[in-house]
Amino acid sequence: MTKPSALPKVRNPRKPTLPDVARIEVVDLFCGAGGLSCGLKKAGVRVVAGIDVDATCKYPYEANHPGAKFLLQDVTTLTGADLKALWSPTSVRLLAGCAPCQPFSSYANTKVAAENDKWGLLYQFGRLVAETKPDLVTMENVPGLAAQAPFKAFLRILKAAGYNIQYAVLNAADYGAPQQRKRLVLLASLLGRVQMPAATHPGSARWVTVRDAVGALPAIDDGEVSTQDPLHRASALSPLNQQRVRASRPGGTWRDWPADLVAECHRKPSGQHSAGVYGRMEWDKPAPTMTTLCIGYGNGRFGHPQQHRGISLREAAIFQSFPPSYKFVKPGSPVLAKRLARLIGNAVPPKLGEAVGRALQAAVRSPAGTADA
Ligand SMILES: C[S@@+](CC[C@H](N)C(=O)[O-])C[C@H]1O[C@@H](n2cnc3c(N)ncnc32)[C@H](O)[C@@H]1O
Repeated sequence: MTKPSALPKVRNPRKPTLPDVARIEVVDLFCGAGGLSCGLKKAGVRVVAGIDVDATCKYPYEANHPGAKFLLQDVTTLTGADLKALWSPTSVRLLAGCAPCQPFSSYANTKVAAENDKWGLLYQFGRLVAETKPDLVTMENVPGLAAQAPFKAFLRILKAAGYNIQYAVLNAADYGAPQQRKRLVLLASLLGRVQMPAATHPGSARWVTVRDAVGALPAIDDGEVSTQDPLHRASALSPLNQQRVRASRPGGTWRDWPADLVAECHRKPSGQHSAGVYGRMEWDKPAPTMTTLCIGYGNGRFGHPQQHRGISLREAAIFQSFPPSYKFVKPGSPVLAKRLARLIGNAVPPKLGEAVGRALQAAVRSPAGTADA
């Protein structure tokens, strides 16, 4: 038998790098309509499965990620063994998750919200990380989560399992989305160092504006659906709100209105602080953060900069940086505007997801952390 020491020495042995032998595959917990998966796919990640309890996510998820499974399942009932069966044996396994952010947002950070059992969903994500030890993990949520106990517990799980971790609050506008949207993003790897993605559109001079994004769409009235695009539809306004939107100026608030248009609640001292509602967007800035209620003119600064209406579903999808070809509604099915606004407003902007995907690809290619994201 040859002794190990007698084996011929190989000069410059070619050490296989991970991309030669494996591809990143993602299982997307809380996948929604697939905004995060869409961005990761653009960065070359293979999307193998998305899991969500909301059946309305099934069509957009499957239609835009052919080959991926959509599991209509509560994450709390999912086991590590269920998850492991979804990844290919040779893949670099990525577990991604964007647990519902409402319990962590500042306005919901009340006693009632603290009792909300959705707080537990991040613990569930942590449990699944501990049970499956994926090579890579990414998580996205509202900035306020960073100071909360569930996030600290999540970090403890990752540290105990030996992950290299980076997290920061990123603005989607710095990554090419025409929207100001600040989110806590975490990247973790068992393969080596990870770096947060470098901004592709750093600083206000490079941000994509409302004009760049939707300035060329056909004009529509409130309550009208474009003949060219069933998603370019604006909610009907009451006669009072029609007067109010006409009295609103881009970047302004209800404080610009004549007194007779001001709502009863805003006349009280307690209502003076809610200046961010009933506003119009500004042409030359990114849109404000899209929410699940973004097609309601009274729900934020969601008025069109010029036309007398709130934004359309199409405009909301564009502000979230979904590609124009993204399939939201099965052909022949009715467009259920409120449901669709929820899926769109809930999404991780694909442009941000793409940046995360590129950072993870860089971490896999160069685990010592020398590559740029
Ligand atoms: C913030 S959204 C995720 C958006 C998604 N990552 C995207 O980019 O489109 C959170 C999602 O969690 C889902 N969800 C809430 N509770 C859940 C549970 N117990 N199990 C699975 N999904 C859940 C909601 O239906 C919602 O679609």
